[in-house]
Amino acid sequence: MAQIVLNNIVKLYDDKHPVIHGIDLDIRDGEFVVFVGPSGCGKSTLLRMIAGLEDISGGELHIGGKLANDIAPAERGLAMVFQSYALYPHMTVFENMAFALNLAGHKKAEVRAAVERAADILQITPLLKRKPKDLSGGQRQRVAIGRAIVRKPQVFLFDEPLSNLDASLRVQMRVEISRLHQELKTTMIYVTHDQVEAMTLGERIVVFNGGRIEQVGSPHELYNNPGNLFVAGFLGAPKMNFIPCTAMQGEAGKVSVRLPGGAVIDVAANGSTIASGDSLTLGVRAEHLGLRSAADTQDNLVDARVSHVEYLGDVAIVYASMEGVPEMLAVKQPAEEELLQAGNAMRLSLPPQRCLLFDAAGKALPRTV
Ligand SMILES: Nc1ncnc2c1ncn2[C@@H]1O[C@H](COP(=O)(O)OP(=O)(O)OP(=O)(O)O)[C@@H](O)[C@H]1O
Ligand SMILES: [Mg+2]
Repeated sequence: MAQIVLNNIVKLYDDKHPVIHGIDLDIRDGEFVVFVGPSGCGKSTLLRMIAGLEDISGGELHIGGKLANDIAPAERGLAMVFQSYALYPHMTVFENMAFALNLAGHKKAEVRAAVERAADILQITPLLKRKPKDLSGGQRQRVAIGRAIVRKPQVFLFDEPLSNLDASLRVQMRVEISRLHQELKTTMIYVTHDQVEAMTLGERIVVFNGGRIEQVGSPHELYNNPGNLFVAGFLGAPKMNFIPCTAMQGEAGKVSVRLPGGAVIDVAANGSTIASGDSLTLGVRAEHLGLRSAADTQDNLVDARVSHVEYLGDVAIVYASMEGVPEMLAVKQPAEEELLQAGNAMRLSLPPQRCLLFDAAGKALPRTV
């Protein structure tokens, strides 16, 4: 087990194209950290730098308290699992899992014990004599993870290990990887661009964008208190609704904003830096918007029109258009409630306690509830 510390880590390709712009990050011993972000943001590059598969252009990498920039990959005590399983096709599952230990000259009995223990953890003991071609995708990925486990690494590095699996298998393997972490208690870094995997697996999530960290925090922190528009829009499905609005008055405890259409609501956010007339963005999640009848005249309601409805079995997502808002607003509803028809006029309720405000630069105003 090991702590990993990144100090101002930089990656330049061909000595001039920066793709990682100075990352500072402290990963605790035994922690499960997920790197998430859109395609091309540098997740794999950073993971490969930690693994020693890419040179570090600048900054310091410490693994287990030791400066590791120039330590050879095999000496770093890490095991990496990729999206492609890369199993040897002519070897059985047992031989695939035993390969690295045999190569390192371990005793036969030791190798057998290590493989059997890993097979037991991953519940693949009945498959040990099979060849990879006779396994399902999920079973192959388990063998690839088993190959990593037998080496007893200080740190596991996963790069999108579940991307080749179908949706139901991904869910099952997600649970298995969580269980594996609980059992082994080894430091794990897991790269994904899937925000559901990030939310369900990570003790902490690091959100990347364009080679920089946008925010680091627990799934709960990032979901409920995103620091900026990028993080707010990246985590959560459907994505957070954004409504342009104008500040009327800002105080330390609340900010009054005028929404398109004229409705005014008081959002519980620190507005001490906000002046009247500032352009802001109000963010509210689909599960916090409520549907009301077009005739309802209560406070904090805005007019909208149903565009289409997605029925998901347990819930329905109502997509609605609102004048002055460029994107459709998504409203999550229990599915048993009467479904609205496309074209219906209705009103949306915006609970002020659940709304977030972002300034013109996209930074969240601190909440005051
Ligand atoms: N060998 C290379 N030479 C130059 N640029 C590279 C090289 N490898 C990667 N890049 C660039 O570095 C950036 C980060 O790539 P990286 O593979 O780390 O992204 P990622 O976040 O893992 O994306 P994905 O989710 O698609 O796997 C991209 O812009 C990519 O084009
Ligand atoms: Mg990648």
